[in-house]
Amino acid sequence: MKKMLIAGNWKMNTNVVQSKKLCEDLLVGLTQMNSLKSKVLVCPPFTNIQIVSDTLKNSVILYGAQNCYYEPQGAFTGEISIPMLSHLGCTYIIIGHSERRAYFSETDEAINKKVIAILNSGITPIMCIGETLEERQSNSTFSVLERQLTIGLNNITPDKISDIVIAYEPVWAIGTGIAATTEQVHEAHTWIRNYLTEKFGQFGQSVILLYGGSLNSENADTLLKLDDVNGGLIGGASLKPDVFLSIIKTAESII
Ligand code: PGA
Repeated sequence: MKKMLIAGNWKMNTNVVQSKKLCEDLLVGLTQMNSLKSKVLVCPPFTNIQIVSDTLKNSVILYGAQNCYYEPQGAFTGEISIPMLSHLGCTYIIIGHSERRAYFSETDEAINKKVIAILNSGITPIMCIGETLEERQSNSTFSVLERQLTIGLNNITPDKISDIVIAYEPVWAIGTGIAATTEQVHEAHTWIRNYLTEKFGQFGQSVILLYGGSLNSENADTLLKLDDVNGGLIGGASLKPDVFLSIIKTAESII
């Protein structure tokens, strides 16, 4: 059976009330689908994790965070630690999103520290990688992916690699309404799978690879059907319950 993870990245959207409503709408929609085979995840802003946790209690929807700091506690004003997120019941943490890399100067080295700290806590990191338009146009897509993977996964042993989710998100496709083409996603995911298998042997085969970047109800079927695509990291469309539910339905029909 194909593994599928449908993850919503709510980014800096929704307040407490809106987050609760979004969860309620998703729960209502999901009761119409029986025995879910895909994993469904939502990642709200930090301030809304508690209400999301309360609202999703005993449901099939998992929840996580969009970032964290790698130190467990201390004088790091404004940061949120992994033990804090673990205490709230988060089971996934998104790391190295391109918006964090671009606007908050997050480096591959810092992402690697976060990946290791998250793994040590028993939470699943979702490590985002992807090239900018300039990088694609200058034919450096694969050297960028190689750098991001090599540094981001530094000191990860083969037995740990399948505890990490990798999200391929070409920066030029994020929030633009223009997803990568089937060929581009196929090419990138095959390349990532080969990289992981060469580096980590058979363990690399079982890593969940997500595609992200303007994934929606129209393109989900084609993209999620690709061999090395095990789900999606969804921004804009995850804020619309109907659209997110329809992507989940598509994933269910593919498994
Ligand atoms: P998008 O965002 O679906 O709005 O393109 C995806 C992401 O940034 O994870």
